[in-house]
Amino acid sequence: MEHDVITLHRARLAHALEAIDALDELEVLRDALTSLRAAILAGEWDVADPAIREDADAETVELRRDVLSAEFDQMLAARTCERAQYYLRRLRAGVLAARTGAINDINLARWKEYDDILTDSLWIEPRRDNSGAHLAWYWGNFIPQIPYQMLRRYTRRGEWVLDAFAGSGTTLIECRRLGRNGVGIELNDDVARQARDRIACEPNAAGAVTEVYAGDSRVADLRTILHSHGVEAVQLAVLHPPYHDIIKFSAQEADLSNAPHTEAFLDMFGQVVSNITPLLQSERYLVLVIGDKYVKGEWIPLGFRCMEAIQQRGYLLKSIVVKNFDETRGKRAQKELWRYRALVGGFYVFKHEYVMVFQKRSDAKETHAYGSD
Ligand SMILES: C[S@@+](CC[C@H](N)C(=O)[O-])C[C@H]1O[C@@H](n2cnc3c(N)ncnc32)[C@H](O)[C@@H]1O
Repeated sequence: MEHDVITLHRARLAHALEAIDALDELEVLRDALTSLRAAILAGEWDVADPAIREDADAETVELRRDVLSAEFDQMLAARTCERAQYYLRRLRAGVLAARTGAINDINLARWKEYDDILTDSLWIEPRRDNSGAHLAWYWGNFIPQIPYQMLRRYTRRGEWVLDAFAGSGTTLIECRRLGRNGVGIELNDDVARQARDRIACEPNAAGAVTEVYAGDSRVADLRTILHSHGVEAVQLAVLHPPYHDIIKFSAQEADLSNAPHTEAFLDMFGQVVSNITPLLQSERYLVLVIGDKYVKGEWIPLGFRCMEAIQQRGYLLKSIVVKNFDETRGKRAQKELWRYRALVGGFYVFKHEYVMVFQKRSDAKETHAYGSD
């Protein structure tokens, strides 16, 4: 969603806020705030100053109109001078400098402007993002909002992302949009080729590297791949494996969707985690997107089993997000039938999947493919 942004002269705004901060009577302070707010929101503030208008090098700051307006409202609603000054100083600090953490570009000094970043553990996404190169052509893809959230939250611009089950390249399309570099591994040659074609349709203003390699993520030589890009490690790993055999992606034995039973699937999945772990920078994040399955009257908690496989390889579980599951066209047609079956069989129809977030511990086991698993 596009927001209305106001561009202001950074130093002058900071100076004006400082001058108001010096006022020690609440009514006087409120009057000064009211006039500043009105002038800024009417677009009649620093643009009216000829000295600033002519200073082409003046450093500016962009502020979201709705957030700025709400911040003024909060200051004006304060019942004491001290409280109003507290909000005022917070705004001034946000105007003067960005305050970002080590793992993303979110400016914590202006955190209220990031209302598109989800922080709750229940995600209801009513619509898939179908914009740009995202065509949703691939059966079993995930909605682009998942990698979007993960890239914004756990990477900075210019950092590297590894998607071990690249499929149609959803993660890499988001990498292009957000100026992150991405490497994807996809077992199926033909799918990898089609993904490359789709990814190339997405504009790439930041010149991000977005490469899909055909290969088996359990044994792919990731170090050599990364070295070919001059990189030692990635800062985010994305894992969206087959949900065991719910969708058969190919006839290949190396395909996780062909594992003969749950334990074999978990073993193959563990090998992928072991293969990528040495290439993920310490203390950075790994995201698992997975759903559960149902076999012969029994709920198989694939999500939690995979979660344990990751934890056993030196990761800290940071979050389990439950996300609503898109009804597939087939399922929609059979909705009534599934409801009837659920009533008869004493179970619930799947409507959710998991987005699990892990952080690599600094002492994570550096096992390689087929290593000490
Ligand atoms: C759930 S899909 C991923 C979809 C992807 N996130 C997207 O949005 O298109 C899982 C993918 O893993 C691939 N796959 C299965 N076994 C694999 C393996 N051993 N190594 C690499 N990819 C594998 C499948 O071919 C399939 O494309």
